[in-house]
Amino acid sequence: MVSRVIPVDVFDLVIFGGTGDLARRKILPGLYRRFVAGQMTSDSRIIGAARGELSDDAFRKLVAESIDEFVPKDRRDEAMITEFLSRLHYVAIDAKGEGGWDALKNMMRDGVVRAFYFSVAPALFGDIALRLKSHGVADDAARIVVEKPFGRDLATAKALNATLAQHFHETQIYRIDHYLGKETVQNLMAVRFANILFEPLWKAEYVDHVQITVAETVSVDGRGAYYDKSGAMRDMVQNHMMQLLCLIAMEPPYHFDPDAVRDEKLKVIRALDPVPQQDIVRGQYLAGGGQGGYLEHCENPASTTESYIALKVHVSNWRWKGTPFYLRTGKRLRARASEIAITFREPPHSIFDDAKGWRENVLVIRLQPDEGMNLMVMIKEPGPGGMRLMQVPLDMSFAGVLGDEAEDIPDAYERLIMDVIRGNQTLFMRGDEVEAAWAWTDPIIEGWNATGAKPQGYDAGSSGPEDALMLMHRDGRRWREIR
Ligand code: NDP
Ligand code: BG6
Repeated sequence: MVSRVIPVDVFDLVIFGGTGDLARRKILPGLYRRFVAGQMTSDSRIIGAARGELSDDAFRKLVAESIDEFVPKDRRDEAMITEFLSRLHYVAIDAKGEGGWDALKNMMRDGVVRAFYFSVAPALFGDIALRLKSHGVADDAARIVVEKPFGRDLATAKALNATLAQHFHETQIYRIDHYLGKETVQNLMAVRFANILFEPLWKAEYVDHVQITVAETVSVDGRGAYYDKSGAMRDMVQNHMMQLLCLIAMEPPYHFDPDAVRDEKLKVIRALDPVPQQDIVRGQYLAGGGQGGYLEHCENPASTTESYIALKVHVSNWRWKGTPFYLRTGKRLRARASEIAITFREPPHSIFDDAKGWRENVLVIRLQPDEGMNLMVMIKEPGPGGMRLMQVPLDMSFAGVLGDEAEDIPDAYERLIMDVIRGNQTLFMRGDEVEAAWAWTDPIIEGWNATGAKPQGYDAGSSGPEDALMLMHRDGRRWREIR
């Protein structure tokens, strides 16, 4: 299979925080890959901006090191790297001061797309937005890319939206949720809306329940101080998992168009019921496997922040009334595995005697690793003997379909940055969407703060706290195995 690469328009992309961790690990290596793929053409430029006094050459050296570290060896090409580095520049700017802005303005070219990536602490977003405008660096067609976290509650998200809106129109603001850039997440929309097969069954009448799992093996060691102020609810559920839930639950948009898609997602968020505390399980990983536990990693022995959360969520609308969505995510779990599993109901009547062999149909959409889909269906057990039933997967791994090209699938950041240049906001969150997500999240967090409930400890390398199993068991259901 040959995938098509369509070059994007010529651009000047300024990365504020161009020397930081996110830029070094994701943004700059990702842009290199798009350059090699021919999507970023050689007349485009990338300008790093941060407080450090660096020459262009020193910045290029830093980016060369990032490519060395974060792009696999077989994807590195010395000639291409040299060519890519020649497209890089650097300007020293303090977001809070007036120096450097005029130099940046003089570097910007007319007639090309201007994009500004805010890869800095959110406290600086307002300063940068203000100065981009007051120094005339950003024109009315410019785009700004804003990283997460977008606020820590409804009030701060509203304040941030209001600040950005003073300087930029909503159509210029690209709020990143990198989960929306993942290949399989977009496939979710293709599977639902480009096939007639699933949509008639995609409702409470036929779907028993939905499980959304984002399991990670990593700990929070090294970022514990940041993480402890956030926790799994703010770090993963309010944004990434909410987006997955929306794509599963939303009505078909009239067109694959930014506002049509985002209008439908917003309706889902607004239809979410408040979650009672008995439908929430929070956990903290314990020490094990030669590593410290959460309390050591977050450097706060009294912390009640969760590194794991499971919750049962109801979408109160005609389509989903009666179908619970079970969400769980955590650090230091058994495996890195993210998937969405849609479990269908029993057929209304069985004509077979082999009730024991019967299992529900499950559509499993695997986000990572091994992106792909599996549809679990019942067949007759092969061979002589009676009509015995067995369940088998109809397996569609994307790596299998794409062959060697699977390696060239852009990662989430690459895809999203290219969408910014194309001016396509479909995979970015709109301001009202983010606010609605916080409006649902805030009372949940306030609820457990009010009870003072502590998270339950769970073993590192396990599937999470015992109580999370009970959350499903008491409904007569089971979590899928994390593997
Ligand atoms: P880092 O602390 O690693 O980098 C911060 C960058 O901002 C540095 O380049 C720093 O350079 C620059 N900077 C700091 N203060 C100023 C200032 N006053 N004016 C101009 N530049 C400044 O942060 P990360 O790269 O980890 O994170 C950046 C953003 O991305 C944050 O919002 C974070 O929440 C978000 N994010 C990060 C992820 C990650 O994996 N790292 C994942 C998801 C989101 P200097 O000190 O020289 O000014
Ligand atoms: C980030 C969270 O947004 O997403 C991290 O802050 C988390 O805590 C990460 O580890 C997970 O992303 P991915 O792409 O590795 O699943």
